[in-house]
Amino acid sequence: MMSTWTPDSWRQKPVLQVPAYPDSAALARAEARLATFPPLVFAGEARDLKTHLGDVARGEAFLLQGGDCAESFAEHGADHIRDFFRVFLQMAVVLTHGASKPVVKVGRVAGQFAKPRSADTETVDGVELPSYRGDIINGIEFTPEARIPDPERLVMAYRQSAATLNLLRAFASGGFANLERVHEWTVGFMKGSNWFPAYEDVAQKIDGAINFMRAMGITADNTPALRETKFFTSHEALLLGYEEALTRQDSITDEYYATSGHMLWIGDRTRQPDGAHVEYFAGIKNPIGIKCGPSLSNEDLLQLLDKLNPNNEAGRITLIGRFGAEKVREHLPRLIEAVKASGHTVVWCCDPMHGNTIKANNGYKTRPFDLVLAEVKAFFEVHREMGTYAGGIHVEMTGDDVTECVGGVSAVTEASLSDRYHTHCDPRLNASQALELAFLVAAEIAGQNPAQANQDAVAS
Ligand code: PEP
Ligand code: CO
Repeated sequence: MMSTWTPDSWRQKPVLQVPAYPDSAALARAEARLATFPPLVFAGEARDLKTHLGDVARGEAFLLQGGDCAESFAEHGADHIRDFFRVFLQMAVVLTHGASKPVVKVGRVAGQFAKPRSADTETVDGVELPSYRGDIINGIEFTPEARIPDPERLVMAYRQSAATLNLLRAFASGGFANLERVHEWTVGFMKGSNWFPAYEDVAQKIDGAINFMRAMGITADNTPALRETKFFTSHEALLLGYEEALTRQDSITDEYYATSGHMLWIGDRTRQPDGAHVEYFAGIKNPIGIKCGPSLSNEDLLQLLDKLNPNNEAGRITLIGRFGAEKVREHLPRLIEAVKASGHTVVWCCDPMHGNTIKANNGYKTRPFDLVLAEVKAFFEVHREMGTYAGGIHVEMTGDDVTECVGGVSAVTEASLSDRYHTHCDPRLNASQALELAFLVAAEIAGQNPAQANQDAVAS
């Protein structure tokens, strides 16, 4: 297969979730333009992330992956990016402190635009229109014009990704992520939140460690690790024409890399072993994720691992389970067993969002926070029982104070869902819920009784 692989060889395979562009010549022109644009990330960075994920696979680090379900053109502002990054860093600090291990930080950001849909059309008040497929494809407004796939959106998504990535790189290395500022990150929602005392406690311990190091002559000025962080980007590589246009051959190794983001993942709806998406992923050298839902058979998973990681490279594959709280115990153990028996090295990661989506009585798509926690807890328990390493979590979250998932200490209720329901696709954890999850995960990693740790955290 590899000898015949090219960035466009996926075009010979059956492909799912393809938008119906009315003007294929215009699409080809947009893709050709993209192919002349600079890469968003470069191969060396993707290799670096693969090395870090190799550490996760060996149980020496923990993966935090998260961000919007779908980025949107409308929400593209500095505040939105900053608030996301701040909560993400807060979560990472809580996890690093709880786990006493490095946290590999991967955003669902700077390219997370294309959405797979379960139905091709959507009907509202008797009117049927093509489904919204993400801002990189069509518009969310419920009008016939907005729903026509527009190739110019590929270019807009690329430019937005470049601007987002630019700001994130500045935040990560320009001082915002400086560990001496952990206290300053509490501004905004966290003062007055139930998580403030627990976070303050972690922040004070970090301050203590930093003061000690300063006394020893180790400061943010002379130690880059204290003042900057590595932050990587990821998205679902659904729109293969876009990915193909941004696939570039690395000048050092001659290998092909997707340069639209550091890590790409294959969605649960497009992981057919003989399909176009898997063909594309087989030829790029980036670290990749595979979403694993209840319908994934052991045989298909092993076939995917053989195709996508024939050399069993640690860090190449992250398996992102998204079974739902009620099904995780039924499916995760059999997949772990199969992978163990095959000898494949993978990162096991838990997406507690996509198997726990329900429709509230008032029609809103939501996720009960209790189910999110239950799936995470079961994920850790199963790995403890089976002697494997629970390596990471993958969440849909935002730094904004939205009301999209019900529950959590901030107690979003079904009735309050309509207050600030802004997502362009799936319901996201708000800042408070995201941090609450981080504390519970930190307790799980530290191997404590999470219920007790939760009470300690709130009480302290
Ligand atoms: C997603 O991550 O937004 C998504 C669509 O997930 P999945 O492929 O697991 O359904
Ligand atoms: Co989603």
